[in-house]
Amino acid sequence: MMVDQQHYRTIWLKADDARVVQVIDQTRLPHAFEILDLQTVAEACLAIRNMTVRGAGLIGACAAFGMYLAALEATDASFTSLMKQAGLRLKATRPTAANLAWAVDRMSRAMASTASPTAARQIARAEAQAIADEDVDHCRRIGAHGLALIEGIAQSKPGQPVNILTHCNAGWLAFVDIGSATAPIYAAHDAGMPLHIWVDETRPRNQGASLTAWELGQHGVPHTLIADNAGGHLMQHGMVDLVITGADRVTRNGDAANKIGTYLKALAAHDNRVPMVVALPSSTFDFEMRDGVANIPIEERGSEEVRWMSGRTQSGVLESVRICPETTPARNWGFDVTPARLISKLICERGVCDANEAAILALFPEHA
Ligand code: MRU
Repeated sequence: MMVDQQHYRTIWLKADDARVVQVIDQTRLPHAFEILDLQTVAEACLAIRNMTVRGAGLIGACAAFGMYLAALEATDASFTSLMKQAGLRLKATRPTAANLAWAVDRMSRAMASTASPTAARQIARAEAQAIADEDVDHCRRIGAHGLALIEGIAQSKPGQPVNILTHCNAGWLAFVDIGSATAPIYAAHDAGMPLHIWVDETRPRNQGASLTAWELGQHGVPHTLIADNAGGHLMQHGMVDLVITGADRVTRNGDAANKIGTYLKALAAHDNRVPMVVALPSSTFDFEMRDGVANIPIEERGSEEVRWMSGRTQSGVLESVRICPETTPARNWGFDVTPARLISKLICERGVCDANEAAILALFPEHA
């Protein structure tokens, strides 16, 4: 993604000191673009937990680089046990996105190929970089496959923009680059197709308002921010051609966990015969799990995220304000699960498929 004429990934090794991992502090966007240094596995865990970095692909990449930082910190004498502890700490930061545990396990497997801590540190660096590079490649492929879906709709309404609704942020900021849900959008926009994106604000943390709106603006994609509850009304009035969301975990049969509220958008899309597609790289699949509603662990976050909102005041100060009475209790589930029957298509790096076990395994036969 270009930010002020410079290309950025969301995570990288510092150019003059490869012992430091750098990330964009997403808690500061859209008000400030700040880079943060991570130098220890504890700092990587904190960055994931407090959502300095967030989004399924990026927390996977951050966990991979976190394992690399842990390898640099670990003493030779206790290397294996310290790396095991680091993996457990990283996995405990957030429960829903499959990418996190996937990345930690892949790092552990790669390092297990040697008994030498020195060699393991080199392997850790190369493997974390490979995970980041692969994330970018997979998002680029998702864009190419999704482009055909948007093209089909564009041909049915020549000269008019294709209206796409998206929820939360499954964009460049949720991955290492490009994004999953945004990949087809950026590909279509770059190909000159007229598009307009409805951006759900995505309470309670407002990733749509603060992140998706910001990155679509950086890329020059026409968009409009809407209140979370507006999507159904727009669909009833023919103002949405396609819903594209990302996913944090998709089961073997196609049930998809995504940011809370996605299920309601899928119900509205189904009722109005609007295609609802979910874009994901293979690292988001949980091939061990079948029933997503019953089994995907749903993160419950602090109630202050519901009770308080933050933003910039007219005088330019960043402030938090409480939006309910002082003693009102609140609950804060981060994700919900959209059953496969409500999903029209999945877009993965290997192609587009129906959301059912046979179609998914036809694309990923190694998991059959
Ligand atoms: O809580 P977050 O911000 O880490 O949630 C992730 C999301 O933004 C969405 O659920 C997204 O659509 C999937 S992440 C590719």
